[in-house]
Amino acid sequence: MPIFASIAAASARRFNLNALERNRSCLKGLPILGCSSESFKFGRKFEISQRSASSSSTHPRGFEYEHDGRYKWIQHKMVFAAIFGLTGSVLYWKSKNGAIKAASAKSSLHPGGEVIPGLPIYTLSDVEKHKTKEKRIWVTYKNGVYDITDYVTSHPGGTKILLAAGGSIEPYWNMYGVHKQGEIVEMLEELRIGNITEKPKEQAFDKNDPYSNDPKRHPAIIPASSKPFNGEPPSAILTDNFLTPNDLFYIRNHLPVPDVNVKSYKLDISVQGPGKFTSFSFDDLKRKFPKKSTAVVLQCAGNRRSEMVKIKPVKGLNWGTSAIGNAEWSGPCLDDLLKQAGIDIDQVTQKHVLFGGMDKDPAGSPYEASIPIELARLLKRDIIVAYEMNGQEIPRDHGYPVRIIIPGIVGARQVKWLTSIKLSNEESMCHWQQNDYKGFHSSIDWNNVNFKSVPAIMELPVTSAICEPIEGTDLAPDADEVTVKGYAWSGGGRGIVRVDVSIDGGKTWDSATLSPPKQPMYKTFAWTFWEATLPIPKNHKGKVEIICKAADLSYNVQPDSVEGIWNLRGVLSNAWHRVNISIPKS
Ligand code: MTE
Repeated sequence: MPIFASIAAASARRFNLNALERNRSCLKGLPILGCSSESFKFGRKFEISQRSASSSSTHPRGFEYEHDGRYKWIQHKMVFAAIFGLTGSVLYWKSKNGAIKAASAKSSLHPGGEVIPGLPIYTLSDVEKHKTKEKRIWVTYKNGVYDITDYVTSHPGGTKILLAAGGSIEPYWNMYGVHKQGEIVEMLEELRIGNITEKPKEQAFDKNDPYSNDPKRHPAIIPASSKPFNGEPPSAILTDNFLTPNDLFYIRNHLPVPDVNVKSYKLDISVQGPGKFTSFSFDDLKRKFPKKSTAVVLQCAGNRRSEMVKIKPVKGLNWGTSAIGNAEWSGPCLDDLLKQAGIDIDQVTQKHVLFGGMDKDPAGSPYEASIPIELARLLKRDIIVAYEMNGQEIPRDHGYPVRIIIPGIVGARQVKWLTSIKLSNEESMCHWQQNDYKGFHSSIDWNNVNFKSVPAIMELPVTSAICEPIEGTDLAPDADEVTVKGYAWSGGGRGIVRVDVSIDGGKTWDSATLSPPKQPMYKTFAWTFWEATLPIPKNHKGKVEIICKAADLSYNVQPDSVEGIWNLRGVLSNAWHRVNISIPKS
């Protein structure tokens, strides 16, 4: 299989042949977009407005339920792997079928994606209707329309292309330019059924809609709400990259995204009382201070809320396991900035450090958060006034041009579009500091909750999650092992010392192999990937439950049940993570 081998090598970053072979058991008969016991129909619904996690008829992350369960699509098989699956496995499939020659001959007539006279012409909405096996699965590439149904049903790895079902394959190919090789396009042409001449419509600018100027998001991001926009990547992408790519990093916005002119950007530093005041321009931040870079996890307090929703409804976005990401953030450290402003954080009497954003609610109040001064002192050289994310300017959704990064604590305090840092006697009075992002026990409900009774969440508890395989995966018939991958992380810089995995519902455990970041154990701000290959128990009855749990440096472990930690806002959801998969009989 020389062609397959060469493409597989090109694809090696994520989905190489070896991995394909090794994981054949995982991939065989892979259902495509399924998740939990429900079945889904993939639909890129960007029009969903913010809704509670308890909504039921429409999956809150942009998928429509198929309640009849006639087919099971895997929701979270990542597009990149999907495209790798398509590229590598299409070639394998085609080369096996001796079709490459024919395709090459054909491709000399049309290199791919061009209008082919005589083929039917379809509209974008025609294509959009074809997302399921029952209705046939179509994708587009340039001016070409392709029916990939038979391909995805006959080849396991290729099924992951289904994230592009009913739409263009190009945004995914653009992520991995290597795959736009002639041969791949030629193979795709073998599945050609028609032409498309219509251009996708740009969203019209509506001056009355404060969200009209929001940036475009990568189509792989699964929306949790559209206005404000919130979304997370499919979970299987998370373990693809130690540093989560910027356009695949989860997005958590409470308000419209500000459009900032960097030339007039100012960061104001002030102290309540003496009123010391300094302003730094963007240029000052870049040129006047040493640049510090650290890989730091951001995690939304509501990550994995969807597991709590299964116990009892909660208020909040229905996040899966991917409202978390790890990026390298760069900029001056807080201490240097304050010193330049004449402030010694170890000497001040103020009790809190407030961070103000530029995004404002309709009443004109900006997003704001604060941290206690003790925490600021502890982390003074670790807190980054960041102007870069993974070596690039910070994307608008993530706080362009400047955001604060406070390693080891909840995402809610990592203020984006940062415009002010203020030392104050009081903590921030912002709604999201006072009346949100706090943890309660499970008997507190909306009738008896007193938000003043507990402090705002800062350091997050230890967590881990299985990213692959995903819920509902069908292994190959009679598979005898499965490779499990995921992430683990703990707040407060506590490194991960162990990840335990079980394939018999928690009766027995194996130790996963950890890939810890190169950071000190007491300042481990990045996540730890882990992997384990587990033998399928002999007595399985067609189904197994895989579980993971992590222990951090303080031997904090994850709680075994969601019931025990359920809370009305669905925050701090860090119970053992469970994934159910099937092993069909041959
Ligand atoms: N900062 C501002 N100005 N506005 C916001 O809505 N959301 C917060 C935090 N900082 C927010 C903000 C929350 S709740 C989270 S979890 C993180 O940003 C998310 O950061 P991200 O969108 O870059 O992933």
